Amino acid sequence: MIEEIPDNLYKVLTIQNIIEEADDFKSFVFQDDHKITYLPGQFLTLVHQTGVDEIRRSYSITSSPAWNEPLSIGVKRVANGIFSRKLIDTARIGDFILCTGAGGFFRLPEDMSPISTIFFFAAGSGIAPVFSLIKTVLKTYPVIQIFLIYSNQSPQAAVFHDQLQKLERQYEKKFRAHFLFSSMADLRRARLNRELMLEFLAIHQFEKDRTLFYTCGPAAYMRMIIYLLREQGFPSDQIKKEDFNPRHAAFPKAIPPDTVTHLVSFEVNGHTHQFKVNYPDTILRAALKEKIALPYSCETGKCGSCAARCLKGEVWLSYNEVLTEKDLLQGLTLTCVGHPVHGDVVLQIVSS
Ligand code: FES
Repeated sequence: MIEEIPDNLYKVLTIQNIIEEADDFKSFVFQDDHKITYLPGQFLTLVHQTGVDEIRRSYSITSSPAWNEPLSIGVKRVANGIFSRKLIDTARIGDFILCTGAGGFFRLPEDMSPISTIFFFAAGSGIAPVFSLIKTVLKTYPVIQIFLIYSNQSPQAAVFHDQLQKLERQYEKKFRAHFLFSSMADLRRARLNRELMLEFLAIHQFEKDRTLFYTCGPAAYMRMIIYLLREQGFPSDQIKKEDFNPRHAAFPKAIPPDTVTHLVSFEVNGHTHQFKVNYPDTILRAALKEKIALPYSCETGKCGSCAARCLKGEVWLSYNEVLTEKDLLQGLTLTCVGHPVHGDVVLQIVSS
């Protein structure tokens, strides 16, 4: 996929295998997985250089480090998606692909000891990061009970359908999957709705305060799930969502409380870069103008690729759908929607 390999700003991966999982959805397996450190549930940000600029897209990692699988990602063909069409239609085994590494916060907590149950709600290609998480939990945390509610048009359209059924048989005491197909004759079970979701929560026994919920799918689908869970009294830190198509969401841009130019010192791979950030540039935009290579993908505060740690000063975010209160208290911030305010700022990169 690339004509010439640029300098050391990117990692170069070689496609080892391409698997057609369902219509318009393929797994891409890479042979240079030692170059990438990742956690289950994260994504890989791929880069395509057009000659004039570059296009970045993030694709969920479907492999699990716990199973010693080669690194793989899931790609769904989007009708007007330049990158996904290029991958699905033209990429071949042996092709090189540029990437900036793994990122994202749709992952397991560092301390899993309080957790006894995890519910996963996935729709369509939203299964991709969920598949990696499920495989990891099954292998690594034998006491955790897993329930998957997975919506699709039909069994043929359900990515990883057979593998999930196999896992269900292999871990029959720990893993239960409910498949919903909109082609089902029983309309009550064709799509996930409030009543059906309440039914799923009622038929399974679990300890409310020791349960996590993960959801990945279209925005309206995730919204319904999160509203219902919050209504049922589950706090937001027990609910994680992954917006796998964040570029399509528009949001009104807020103005920072301070638009004065400030100096940013940014530690990247052992080097400290200093540059000024003039509003309306974000920290990321100002860095890119200085040709400083920082990780990013969505540029809308939704994916977490650009996460950095603020060591000194204050960064104001115009939008944030990815960092939790706890992350913010620990100093994490997002450069793509971040502006330095009330003085100069010292940052350090956090993604792999
Ligand atoms: S690039 Fe996606 S949150 Fe910043």
